[in-house]
This record gives sequence, structure tokens and C-alpha cells, in this order.
Amino acid sequence: MSFPHRHLLGIEHLSPPDITTILDLAETYVTLNRQSAKHSDVLAGLTQINMFFENSTRTQASFEIAGKRLGADVMNMAMQASSVKKGETLIDTALTLNAMHPDLLVVRHPHSGAVDLLAQKVNCAVLNAGDGQHEHPTQALLDALTIRRAKGRLHRLSVAICGDIAHSRVARSNILLLGKMENRVRLIGPPTLMPSGIADFGVEVFEDMTEGLKDVDVVMMLRLQKERMDGGFIPSEREYYHRYGLDAQKLKLAKPDAIVMHPGPMNRGVEIDGTLADDIHRSVIQEQVEMGVAVRMAAMQLLAGNLASARALA
Ligand code: NCD
Repeated sequence: MSFPHRHLLGIEHLSPPDITTILDLAETYVTLNRQSAKHSDVLAGLTQINMFFENSTRTQASFEIAGKRLGADVMNMAMQASSVKKGETLIDTALTLNAMHPDLLVVRHPHSGAVDLLAQKVNCAVLNAGDGQHEHPTQALLDALTIRRAKGRLHRLSVAICGDIAHSRVARSNILLLGKMENRVRLIGPPTLMPSGIADFGVEVFEDMTEGLKDVDVVMMLRLQKERMDGGFIPSEREYYHRYGLDAQKLKLAKPDAIVMHPGPMNRGVEIDGTLADDIHRSVIQEQVEMGVAVRMAAMQLLAGNLASARALA
């Protein structure tokens, strides 16, 4: 398996064969994870540190389970309680941890670019678990695996990404990945939630769900990221749901077998109807969570395999 990378910082740096390598390896972990004995020792002896400077439920749990199933020693740093609160800089925290010889560092940070910066200062593999509004590569990879399994392929599909595109690192990583794999991406949302210059990414932009959802294979809903807004982006949640909330009625515009996705956490009744989110015939939201563990196991295995040579060159 060739995976010529030291870190996993963004989909931006991956080639189509790199993406396929991760997804193919992840398939083997989907099988392992469904067995009662789920343990492997591919990361035995290695130390994984999870540093989450922003809240997370599923991503942090998923990375922790992934590391433990592969036999790594996993430590979760409680960043709320750490010296960061005392004013230590990100780089000082990283250097302190680096001196403890971790092998894998999983980092989530509220600032775009912070994880890349940190990766330049440490002697281990860094995985970006979401940096500001920039990238969230393992989310796009788990979404890709979910789509590939549901649709039988990951090319020539029409995928609508809907809602708060402007604040979403999930949207950015997915746009990059789906584009690299030769799919058609449509972005649907109000102009206030659409980043400027987005059409340069080779996507089609729609303001209206009725037009945008027409005949798509995949509908990916995004959370309205209220914590990243300082007012004025939407008239009201009620109005937003009326225009942009996905319900069974709007879903009829997509292909009859279109799947519904959401990275979580969901605002039920704001961007998606709760009953539709739970409809196992249309929604693959729980599969996305399942694929997340498998994809993170695969990514960590591939990076661990490159550690020795990366360190020899450093
Ligand atoms: C996303 C994130 O944190 O970027 N969640 C996740 O990782 N599952 C999306 C979001 O917060 O809306």
C-alpha cells in the first residue's frame, strides 16, 4: 500500500489513488468492527494523543475507539483544563507534548491553518480533526466511504451539499474530495451562507432547493453553525427551515433512490426534519458514524507505516 504522506492535514493534498487506498483499507476495518472481537495490534506500542481545542462528541470518540481497536495507547488531553487556559501558545503546548514522544497527534482547533502550523513543529504524524472553516479530511473520507457503499461507486454522481456552506469545513473537504473523484457537486443555500468566489471550485451554485435538488443522487445537509455567526445570516430559523430544511416533500425532487446525509450534530427542525433523519430507508446518518471509525483506523495505520522513514529524513 503506497500512501506518500507524513500527515493527514487536508483533502487538498491527496490524489485520487490516495483516497482509494484509504477507503479500500477502511473496508477491511468495517468488517473487523462488526465482529465481536475487534482488536488488532497494528498500532501496538505507539502513543496517540487527541488534542481537541473545540468541542466534539463523535469525532473525538471515533478517533479514540479507532486507536484503541488498533492497539495504540490513547490519551485524550482535556484542553479546557490545560495550560492553554493559562496562556500557553499552541506551539508551546505542541512542543511540550512532542517531548513525550507521541506517534500520532489528532488535533481539532478553532483557527483555520492552526493544525498545519503545529504539524511543522512536531516529530510525529498529525491528523487534522477539523481546523476552523478550513478542512475536516476524515469527515470527507467517511462520507466518501458511505457514498461508495450505498451507491456502488464514487464517480459520476450528482451530490447536493446544502445549507451553511460558508462556515463549513465539512463542505470544503467534501467539495475537494468529490471533485477529485469526478463527481458533480451542487451547493444550495442562501447567498449570505455561500462563500464568495465559490464557483471557482468547479461547483454549481443554487439559491433554491427546488432547482438544486433536482435528480441528485446524494443530499448532504449541513448544520447551521450558529457559533460561527455573529447575527444577520438568516431571517429566522423558522423561515430557514421553510426554505432550506430538508423534509420528505423536498426530497421527492431528488432521484427516487437518493440518500440523505448529515455530519452531525443535527439541529432537528432547523436544517432537517427529524423523522426523515431517522428514516433508515433514506438516511445513512448512522452509517456515516460507523464508517468514521473504519476510515480513522485506516488513516492512522497508513500514517504509522510511514513514521519510521519520515523520522529518518527529519
Ligand atoms: C462537524 C464539524 O465539527 O466540523 N461535525 C463533525 O465533525 N461530525 C460539523 C459540524 O460541527 O456541524
